[in-house]
Amino acid sequence: MKRRHLPPVLLLLLLSLLSLSFRRRLLLPPSRPPPIGDPLLRRLAADDGVGTRQILAEAAALMANASISTFPSLGNHHRLLYLRLPFSPSPRAPPRPRTVARLRVPADKLPPDGDLLAAFRNSLSSFLAARRRIPIRSNAAAVMADLTATTGRRFPTCAVVGNSGVLLGSGHGAQIDTHDLIIRLNNARIAGFAIDVGVKTSISFVNSNILHICAARNAVTHAACGCHPYGGEIPMAMYICQPAHLLDALICNATATASSPFPILVTDARLDALCARIAKYYSLRRFVSVTGEPASNWTRKHDEKYFHYSSGMQAVVMALAVCDEVSLFGFGKVDGAKHHYHTNQKKELDLHDYEAEYEFYADLQERPEMVPFLDGFKPPPVRVHR
Ligand SMILES: *[C@@H]1O[C@H](CO)[C@@H](O)[C@H](O)[C@H]1NC(C)=O
Ligand SMILES: *[C@@H]1O[C@H](CO)[C@@H](O)[C@H](O)[C@H]1NC(C)=O
Ligand SMILES: *[C@@H]1O[C@H](CO)[C@@H](O)[C@H](O)[C@H]1NC(C)=O
Repeated sequence: MKRRHLPPVLLLLLLSLLSLSFRRRLLLPPSRPPPIGDPLLRRLAADDGVGTRQILAEAAALMANASISTFPSLGNHHRLLYLRLPFSPSPRAPPRPRTVARLRVPADKLPPDGDLLAAFRNSLSSFLAARRRIPIRSNAAAVMADLTATTGRRFPTCAVVGNSGVLLGSGHGAQIDTHDLIIRLNNARIAGFAIDVGVKTSISFVNSNILHICAARNAVTHAACGCHPYGGEIPMAMYICQPAHLLDALICNATATASSPFPILVTDARLDALCARIAKYYSLRRFVSVTGEPASNWTRKHDEKYFHYSSGMQAVVMALAVCDEVSLFGFGKVDGAKHHYHTNQKKELDLHDYEAEYEFYADLQERPEMVPFLDGFKPPPVRVHR
């Protein structure tokens, strides 16, 4: 083509491209409705960031380099188990083994060290694979639909029972017990609180730290590590906050018996990602409205390495997926109420932003269409009981 023909040809090309995109916009309906929520906050919240990368790196390091060794202890009544990882204090120093976990385990019930390590690496491998597969644009409707497989079926009415001190004196126990599915959190004690919190439980929703505590205390003395306080048959749904806790799950499962089984459901990686986004979105929104600072300053208040949704919030999202109606009890604070109904813990943990999570529950109750990241999923009616 001759040089002087080039400009008109380019112009024609440009015009036809422009008209094409114009026609597309005019004639075709937009393929998706615009995403819900503030675009900047959505973008910041969708970046799972440092915390997730750290967990993945931890899991990868354990998978590549962990060792497990057990040693007889105290007249062979039990063994001491060490989970170790080589660690270099500085780039040039030779790596030294660092103990990641140390547990007393039964002398006879666990498989040999090599087999236990192989099983642990298997768990880590599935954990990593599930998390690496998460698409950037997660499809909430599909994630939520798949959760019904976790619980086996849908339930007409569900109660998620938080552990807030507001439950004390509430008298909600009988009402809680009428629900078809009752989810309790972090193995909170119910004995002695029946009038306020009820007695029935269908699922115990925990973070993996709870399992680690059970394993550290009870692996030798209690079948299944004594980690099912509501009855051996009541499953625990657990999200993994440290990959090393997958070893606790193997150990507790190995000590289970027919009368004390170890039913456990590890949460879907895509559900974890969805909850992380929603929690961060509401935390960002609250930060901006309370401080007046730009959203990008959020990390001044919240350490991204540790920031995390609470078990309660994830249990609520799970309930949205499998219930026709969701009631929340024991969420929220009033001045003077204890943080937990069942402990004397005074302070809230900094790693959660409970106030932001309460705003999420309020939106679910009053403006469910405004909840971001549920794109394509319509939540059932939610009622927050005071
Ligand atoms: C495993 O250890 C080696 C040697 O210390 C190190 O170079 C490598 O990065 C480690 N692998 C992971 C996944 O951390
Ligand atoms: C738990 O232990 C039983 C055998 O006691 C085994 O069949 C099952 O696969 C184990 N489950 C997990 C998740 O390790
Ligand atoms: C945002 O944080 C920086 C420090 O990280 C601070 O200097 C700045 O004042 C903050 N912005 C506002 C508007 O407060």
